[in-house]
Amino acid sequence: MRVISDIAALRTHTAGAPLAFVPTMGNLHEGHLSLVRLARQHAPRVAASIFVNRLQFVPGEDFERYPRTFDSDCEKLAAEGVELVFAPDEGTLYPEPQLYVVEPPPLANELEGKFRPRFFQGVSTVVLKLFNCVQPACAVFGKKDYQQLMIVRDMVRQLNLPIAIVAGETLRAPDGLALSSRNGYLSASERAEAPRLQRVLQHAKARLAEGERAFDALGREAMRALAAAGWEPDYVEVRRRADLAAPERGDTQLVVLGAARLGGTRLIDNVEA
Ligand code: PAF
Repeated sequence: MRVISDIAALRTHTAGAPLAFVPTMGNLHEGHLSLVRLARQHAPRVAASIFVNRLQFVPGEDFERYPRTFDSDCEKLAAEGVELVFAPDEGTLYPEPQLYVVEPPPLANELEGKFRPRFFQGVSTVVLKLFNCVQPACAVFGKKDYQQLMIVRDMVRQLNLPIAIVAGETLRAPDGLALSSRNGYLSASERAEAPRLQRVLQHAKARLAEGERAFDALGREAMRALAAAGWEPDYVEVRRRADLAAPERGDTQLVVLGAARLGGTRLIDNVEA
């Protein structure tokens, strides 16, 4: 496995057989590795990136303390047969202030974007830059970050990038908690409480299956359930799977998305309904 931090050097290795690409911010867990395994099914060679992208953190978020575990990340990627790891430093990917940015669509100001201003501008900008550097044939994004997946998919379509976007299922701990690098911030008691987010979303899914169509009330009820257990919910919303628009009564392909703070840790999750 080659670990490359320089863009010119990277380009000498990306030519040839098609690459499937898994962009990450490192601190890899089984969820990331499942995306790598999925990538292997889509192209003969797999590349990953490790880059903690300052542009997608709002002031006061955890950019500085975001877990950086580069050596063990590389060991895990090598064990999965990854051929290339692109791990630029900030000065390489952002050698000057990034004045040209990707302006994402209005959806970027809803759900996550409502609570993390310019998050999707930062994500879209770095993903486009990574795509330009790695030049993959396809790229894999996890459904855990459902809105990110939609926004990247739309960006690729609207900007005519010749890259297929592949969606990977969310991996969960046995108690239902979605795997996430930020789970490491949870104390033991918070870790025990954390699966409630998934349970609350599952409950909303069950209500939808029973025919509930008061989508807003369902979201509010879920937020009340979280708040009653000591969480600070940002949102729980039912949306259409295809475009994350607010659903009509007759829509059947839905997703329930939620984000809430447990102590100092903000968790997100979703469930297709
Ligand atoms: O999902 C992530 O880890 C990040 O948002 C990504 C896609 C690697 C961009 O920094």
